[in-house]
Amino acid sequence: MSQCPYHHTTTAGAPVADNQNSLTAGPRGPVLLQDWQLLEKLAHQNRERIPERVVHAKGWGAHGTFTVTHDISRYTCAKIFDTVGKQTPLIARFSTVAGELGAADAERDVRGFALKFYTEQGNWDMVGNNTPVFFIRDPLKFPDFIHTQKRHPRTNVRSATAMWDFWSLSPESLHQVTMLMSDRGLPTDVRHINGYGSHTYSFWNKAGERFWVKFHFKTQQGHRHYTNREAAQVIGKTRESTQEDLYASIERGYYPRWTMYVQVMPEMQALNTPYNPFDLTKVWPHADYPLIEVGVFELNRNADNYFSEIEQVAMSPSNIVPGIGFSPDHVLQARIFSYADAHRYRIGTHYEALPVNAPQCPVHHYHKDGAMRFTPNMPHADAYYEPNSFGGPVADSQVTEPPLRLHADFADRFNHREDAGNNDFVQVTALFNLFNAKQKQRLYRNISEAMAGVAPFIIERQLALFDRVHPDYGNGVRQALADDKASAPQQAELESY
Ligand code: HEM
Repeated sequence: MSQCPYHHTTTAGAPVADNQNSLTAGPRGPVLLQDWQLLEKLAHQNRERIPERVVHAKGWGAHGTFTVTHDISRYTCAKIFDTVGKQTPLIARFSTVAGELGAADAERDVRGFALKFYTEQGNWDMVGNNTPVFFIRDPLKFPDFIHTQKRHPRTNVRSATAMWDFWSLSPESLHQVTMLMSDRGLPTDVRHINGYGSHTYSFWNKAGERFWVKFHFKTQQGHRHYTNREAAQVIGKTRESTQEDLYASIERGYYPRWTMYVQVMPEMQALNTPYNPFDLTKVWPHADYPLIEVGVFELNRNADNYFSEIEQVAMSPSNIVPGIGFSPDHVLQARIFSYADAHRYRIGTHYEALPVNAPQCPVHHYHKDGAMRFTPNMPHADAYYEPNSFGGPVADSQVTEPPLRLHADFADRFNHREDAGNNDFVQVTALFNLFNAKQKQRLYRNISEAMAGVAPFIIERQLALFDRVHPDYGNGVRQALADDKASAPQQAELESY
């Protein structure tokens, strides 16, 4: 016997007398159209899916708390940072980029690292990755890049040829490709990864001064990675290794934590750095711009309903709050458009009003109707347009952002390869030199395995890029490719055994 204190009802609240038997014309007769309970149930089932995210479809998330530990009010007037000890609720969603909703978790891929801070001045979304750089620096290339990561239109399987063809023709991808093929490209789970805002954003303070800023979230759990072989074994046992790890860890009270840091650059220095500080394929050297500690966040509550809280969470780089601003980073500017557009298509017009997306501060705007509008009129005002004489909400000039002083000449489709500050190799060489001998060997092997089946002319073009980073890089991959080729006949023999 059920102990549930509630009666089963229809969506309209009417009590249901029988949820096991359809309404039929006798025991051997047909089902009646009049059985609206059956119709409602079938109709709901048909609408249980919404489109999965076009990228970052497979994800895992949880709720948590951000705590300020250091004063950075000289850089920003954002209220979230105004008092040491202040706490702000947040939700995090992590993801892989290329896999679909049902993809295996333990795949080599960049991990998305998206945070929504419910601040007293509205939601601030920090939609980053576990890498400080990205594959491209011009957003016009993003849809093409993503096509190379998804299924081939004819074969319907992912294509290593497409990936290496695109990368070898886009040298700006080298930095990110090297990270993806290194140990960090295959983390065991998301508790053991760092997060990065990746883009340059900006801070502005009460005096109206602007600073360029990069956000870093360093895992307090340490880094853990799988080799390709270990990951294959994990996937053979479970495709949900990250979901299981994050959920179980929080259920058991082991709350994962990350320390938040910023790198800060005074506004006018951006004109003089040897690299373009708004180029998403570059990092800012820590020696020039040291990490400044800001706070810590922990994830301490699992979602009660995965679909409503994690699948429907709508992250957007356009969600900023006073004291935090954008930068001229081209990719960031495209993202400011793209995410809210995706949410309106995927979730619906009023996606920001869903509980997981709703700010935890009062919301007063003049948008009106549309599918699924369920919020009430403004309580103390009879105003649904502006300007009005009936006490409607008004703009607050105190939160005016200082002008974004941009170095703009004239609009053109500038060739992003012709800017000396966009050199594609120098920083990759610095990264390569940080790897020890074993890490380099794993890098070569991972690349060689990822190149299986790719046409020689594409491999040669990519090897020439690795050579320009460091001769050891190109030669190391050449050797790994030769080793793989040498073991191929053995494998064929084994398979025909
Ligand atoms: C022009 C470049 C880019 C475009 C147009 C773009 C577009 C998108 C779109 C349309 C989504 C799906 C949103 C949704 O349906 O919820 C998405 C998800 C995501 N993107 Fe991007 N993206 C770009 C670059 C980047 C970069 C550089 C990063 C990281 C630094 C990034 C991180 C993410 C993350 C973490 C998600 C998943 C958010 C979540 O968990 O809900 N993207 N992107």
